[in-house]
Amino acid sequence: MLPLRWILCLSALGFALPSQAQDGKLLYEQNCAACHLPDQMVVGPSLIEITKLYQKKPKEFLQWANKPQKKRPGVIDMPSMAHLGDANLLAIRDYMIKASAGLKEKPAVTKDPFERVARRPEVQRIFMPDVGPAAIAVALPGDLSYCFDAGDCRLRTIWRGDFINGWLYWKSNGKATGVIMGKVLWHLPEDTTLPAAKFHGYELNDAGIPTFSYERQGAQFEETIEPAGKNLVRRFKVTTAQPLVLTIDNDTQASAGTRQGNKLTLTPEQAKSFTLTVTLS
Ligand code: HEC
Repeated sequence: MLPLRWILCLSALGFALPSQAQDGKLLYEQNCAACHLPDQMVVGPSLIEITKLYQKKPKEFLQWANKPQKKRPGVIDMPSMAHLGDANLLAIRDYMIKASAGLKEKPAVTKDPFERVARRPEVQRIFMPDVGPAAIAVALPGDLSYCFDAGDCRLRTIWRGDFINGWLYWKSNGKATGVIMGKVLWHLPEDTTLPAAKFHGYELNDAGIPTFSYERQGAQFEETIEPAGKNLVRRFKVTTAQPLVLTIDNDTQASAGTRQGNKLTLTPEQAKSFTLTVTLS
């Protein structure tokens, strides 16, 4: 007869085989860490508590993660994680058990200690909905904020009103998805046809407004985004040997270059300094 340890091992394998599981730690960070910390109840219970409940119950864990119930008073509903698939959920469970080993539960966080209006300007790296993990959210002087995607190096979203929900963000150790608190006025969808870009970082000017540096197809970009009345102006300095071709939308006006439909072409000389103004209602 096989020793018990082996049987457990084999059955665990049998569970994971149907589709190849990915890295449990990474999956946890991407899908659960926004609401579950190792040693503290924030949005949802700690990994210590989850381990206590489900250490010996992989099946019940799957049931919960696929179809969460309303259980605790005063918390939000946990969204279903069924899209991850059982193999990945079990990998997350293994990681949750490991990550909570030896930790002691801290008192739960129950109220926002940092409730505040955004200082303007303010720059916050954050995971934004529809933008992705490399978002940089900026609150500008006045009431406009925007989100720059450092992954594909594009301005993606502009909104008016409050900045982002700092509470969820703080509660989740900086891993939460940012929630836009104002009214979105302008948004560009994801564009997978865009040539790859390389983000070099940003510098703050004396007023605290960032200038982003990035590179696309051999052209070196510097972009500063500022309010201009009720609109938003994007100031560019681009070093390029080739003419620069940009796709701009109908709400955007260029200070230089030749426009044909949504294609704007600038000579290397024009590209050295130009602006794009986004008209906002
Ligand atoms: C948006 C926030 C959020 C995310 C993301 C999230 N959870 Fe939860 N989770 C909660 C909340 C809130 C509860 C408590 C719900 C209740 O008690 O009504 C909870 C409870 C749980 C529990 C305890 C169930 C019980 O029996 O008490 C488990 C296990 C769990 N989550 C697993 C996961 C896993 C695994 C992931 C990632 C794949 C995940 N959660 C992602 C919010 C979240």
